[in-house]
Amino acid sequence: MPVEPVEALPICRLDDVPDGEARGFTIGDGAAERAYFIVRRGERAFVYENSCPHTGVTLDWQPDVFMDVEKRFIQCATHGALFRIEDGFCVHGPCVGAYLTARPVRIDQGLVYLTA
Ligand code: FES
Repeated sequence: MPVEPVEALPICRLDDVPDGEARGFTIGDGAAERAYFIVRRGERAFVYENSCPHTGVTLDWQPDVFMDVEKRFIQCATHGALFRIEDGFCVHGPCVGAYLTARPVRIDQGLVYLTA
């Protein structure tokens, strides 16, 4: 049985997120609550803070809808900025050249963990 470092926080099973899709989640309670989302690309997962670098609003226009219609980019619902899945770099829109704030993740035995 693997020993988990204290700073690894399990967030979901990789299979909970369909390939090419994203899911939102929060960590913390009350004023400390923070919103994130996870994007799956095959056997890889990427986690970002759910905050657009343009204005700071959340990116999803409805729960768990973070992707463009072709599922090639993360898309902000407010002004349509497009971000690369792999690194959160904005390739189109009012914040082109900016990045989403990434959080490190690790996948172990099908579980996705946020790491420190
Ligand atoms: S708020 Fe996201 S592109 Fe403007």
